[in-house]
Amino acid sequence: MAEDLKIPAGTLTREDKYVELYPQIVGLLDGESDPIANMANIASALRFGLEFFWVGFYIYNSTELVLGPFQGPPACTRIKIGKGVCGTSFGNMETIVVPDVEQFPGHIACSALSKSEVVIPFKFANGLSGVLDVDSDKLNDFTSVDSLWLNKIVELLNK
Ligand code: SME
Repeated sequence: MAEDLKIPAGTLTREDKYVELYPQIVGLLDGESDPIANMANIASALRFGLEFFWVGFYIYNSTELVLGPFQGPPACTRIKIGKGVCGTSFGNMETIVVPDVEQFPGHIACSALSKSEVVIPFKFANGLSGVLDVDSDKLNDFTSVDSLWLNKIVELLNK
């Protein structure tokens, strides 16, 4: 499909925006197996489609998490397993929603503008593992709706 993106209208609910965005992301990944290319297009689609402050991947290199494809301001490059929201999420293999980053012990502040965050870990049979990290400049910007849809989107990398 053409590499364009129809941005969901700002008046829609977050859920309805995911409903519009998801098939477009499926289309962007269709026929492409390179994980870096696919992570790059997912980051772009989420950043521009849902207007998040920062969207990106950290990839596990057998030792720690290393910054991968992202959209947004420059970010920290390496995160140890068990550290910050990303390292905790990956270490426990569980999605973490942080309504207020200042309340998360050990949160790694790549930008003072980031106020809330959701992190989705993944570990696929093909060896690819890491996390998807989505940051908002608004407090309490993520719910179970985001966890559910972002997990579905991350699963698209499993090929
Ligand atoms: N806040 C994250 C670090 C990554 S940046 O937000 C892009 C954490 O605590 O793991």
